[in-house]
Amino acid sequence: MKQDWWKEAVVYQVYPQSFCDTNHDGIGDFNGIRSKLDYLKELGVNLIWINPCYQSPMVDNGYDISDYYQVNPMFGTNEDLDALIQEAKEKGIGVLLDLVVNDCSDEHPWFQKAVQDPESEEADYFIFKTTEDGQPPNNWRSNFGGPAWTQVPDGRWYLHTFDKRQPDFNWENPDLREKLYNMVNWWLDKGIAGFRVDAITFIKKDLTFASVPTPDGSLYQIENYQNYPGIGEFLTELRDRTYGKRNAMTVAEAVGVSMDYFPDYAGENGYFSMIFDFNWYDMKGEADKSSKEAVHRWRQKMFDSQEQISSLGCWSGGVLESHDEPRGINKFLEPKDQSRTSAACLGTIYFFLPGTPFIYQGQELGMTNSVWNSIEDFKDVMVHNRYRECVENGGDTEALLQELREYSRDNGRTPIQWDNSEYAGFSDTEPWIPVNPNYPQINAAAQQGDPSSVLSYYKKLVALRRDPKWKEVFSEGKFIPQREAEDYLIAYRRVLEDKTAGIFCNFTGKAQTVRVSEEVEEILLNNCDNLEQEAGTLTMAPYQAVVLSLK
Ligand code: NOJ
Ligand code: CA
Repeated sequence: MKQDWWKEAVVYQVYPQSFCDTNHDGIGDFNGIRSKLDYLKELGVNLIWINPCYQSPMVDNGYDISDYYQVNPMFGTNEDLDALIQEAKEKGIGVLLDLVVNDCSDEHPWFQKAVQDPESEEADYFIFKTTEDGQPPNNWRSNFGGPAWTQVPDGRWYLHTFDKRQPDFNWENPDLREKLYNMVNWWLDKGIAGFRVDAITFIKKDLTFASVPTPDGSLYQIENYQNYPGIGEFLTELRDRTYGKRNAMTVAEAVGVSMDYFPDYAGENGYFSMIFDFNWYDMKGEADKSSKEAVHRWRQKMFDSQEQISSLGCWSGGVLESHDEPRGINKFLEPKDQSRTSAACLGTIYFFLPGTPFIYQGQELGMTNSVWNSIEDFKDVMVHNRYRECVENGGDTEALLQELREYSRDNGRTPIQWDNSEYAGFSDTEPWIPVNPNYPQINAAAQQGDPSSVLSYYKKLVALRRDPKWKEVFSEGKFIPQREAEDYLIAYRRVLEDKTAGIFCNFTGKAQTVRVSEEVEEILLNNCDNLEQEAGTLTMAPYQAVVLSLK
């Protein structure tokens, strides 16, 4: 197999709780994923990434792991997962698991031991500090709200970048690292295709643990401690001792890595096969996403980062959505513009960029944000921590609620809408999180045989990206953004030897005529009925997207 086989892959992200339930408990499971392998094969993807499915009290939906070697019984047994990996492989689909090694659950036996016995080996697997004044060791703020330190009964404080029930590991301890590497190899031995690596830029801490002054005396956002100097030694060792020895793919969630460090992380000899390019994955802060300024800014951000990543010889993963984000349709489109055509247009924009495209479950159906009436409807620990913090600080809870409706991660976590039966065919009992009420209109069954559906279009997107005639153009081809394009037009070329693919996306609800300097040889993909062409111009319908073979 080619060393960098993953450059031609298309990945589908499975959020297991919300994918498909087969044992009537309202929670998705491994057998549910198995039952949908043919659906995934038909979609055309060749890799799936499954979010954490290990033993966990599920405080942060499985990112709080209490046993790295046992799967969570709510998803099935270890044997069920083995069977899933095997069956997927037979169908030409590799499985990526989630690797979470910045922190674990407070229910992990190591942490329990560490709390009980300050002299134990395990106590040094975590970051404990004592203070004289009964105050936390410094002013760092957890990413999920509140101080990043929590006290145990004997008075020590431990550090947690995320929820207080997710203590951070002390990567300085070589025995801990050894144990983690053994675990990684144990999973690789099962024949998985690789890992998505969680929150990895947080593993190295500033060992002075000094407070960082903030202008208003508020807590210091720990996020600023990402990619701390010295992290490279840990990441090199992790790679060399585990996946680096195999032909595995790794994609890291490496937030806070600037272009200067991109090559270290995702260059030819980087720590990982790729890292996600998060530079353009939302339009936050845009008052009107449909304005030409907003579209222009978005286009710039996408072109800038993609051009830089390419020129640095690096590789990235492209995402519109994930389990940490609201739905793409809502993030990038104003309500008046949300339609099948605009959903297909969005898909086209990112699918042919350099890098490996990821599809988040339900994105291929054009699933949307859900309806949240009150704070109680939300499940996400981050939502509740932020709400509590807001109440404690006398903040505006109504405004926060409004923001959460739009931006909460729960929007992306509602069950997949398989059909129009009760609970959307996800389960025959009430799901752990409510189904989006629009399932009668948006569901896979209705879209399956409909050539104009979002699902049918995504099948074509994947097929073109993996088409033997074109896949190298999209993986190896030069990326040439059309920066001087008409307003609202997001256009770029991918060029390899004598082949040129031109991607033209009219990202607006208005028709417009755009210039094309080359001759159109063939329409490879089109999300509308026709394309009006005249010498040197294309007249594009609202949200029309086309991929053209150009001469
Ligand atoms: C990153 C994961 O993607 C996110 O879902 C989780 O909440 C944080 N890590 C903290 O565990
Ligand atoms: Ca189940």
